[in-house]
Amino acid sequence: MKNIIFVCGSLRKGSYNRIYMETMMQHVPEDWNIKEVSFKDVPVYNFDLEGDNEPQAVTTFRDALSEADGIIIVTPEYNTGVPGPLKNAIDWASRVKNKGDRSPLVNRPFAVAGCSPGATGSALSQAQLRQTLTAMNAHIMPGPKLIIGKVHELITPEGKIEDQRSISYMERFLNAFDEYIEKVNP
Ligand code: FNR
Repeated sequence: MKNIIFVCGSLRKGSYNRIYMETMMQHVPEDWNIKEVSFKDVPVYNFDLEGDNEPQAVTTFRDALSEADGIIIVTPEYNTGVPGPLKNAIDWASRVKNKGDRSPLVNRPFAVAGCSPGATGSALSQAQLRQTLTAMNAHIMPGPKLIIGKVHELITPEGKIEDQRSISYMERFLNAFDEYIEKVNP
């Protein structure tokens, strides 16, 4: 069994990225134990809140990432970059509560995906996310990529993605991540 965590970069109700992520979660390899982890309660980063003053939501978020064999982030793009709340949560996760601890980002396998109603499908946000995770010595699956433009056209009136081509892209991505995790952590 692999413990895989999904993180959605958007907090809004009705998020396209959430719909996309929830569809992915229905098509994971059989031996995955999956869970969504949210950063919605993680406060704005402040060095003064580190260590003994660390907010519980930060500890909870970081601990959840620590338990994962792999982490999949599905994110929109804001102003050609990573949405602030997601970047904020990653910045917190890059820090440690106690001296000598190791950030859960280090050596952890990640896969990055995302979508937007625009044509560029979160490509720039994903590129920035890769840059940040690389700086933390995370392992980031190089490909295949899921950069989904015009995502609203894929969503049914019931708020689902049922399009077979989209689902087969997702399955290819998820199976590749399964192999990537085994390559990184044999
Ligand atoms: C956006 N959006 C956007 N889209 C894009 O493709 N490139 C961009 O740079 C931006 N910039 C941007 C900034 C801000 C502040 C917002 C709120 C939105 C549009 C964005 O892709 C769209 O709102 C998505 O629907 C957001 O994703 P969710 O919440 O639907 O998952």
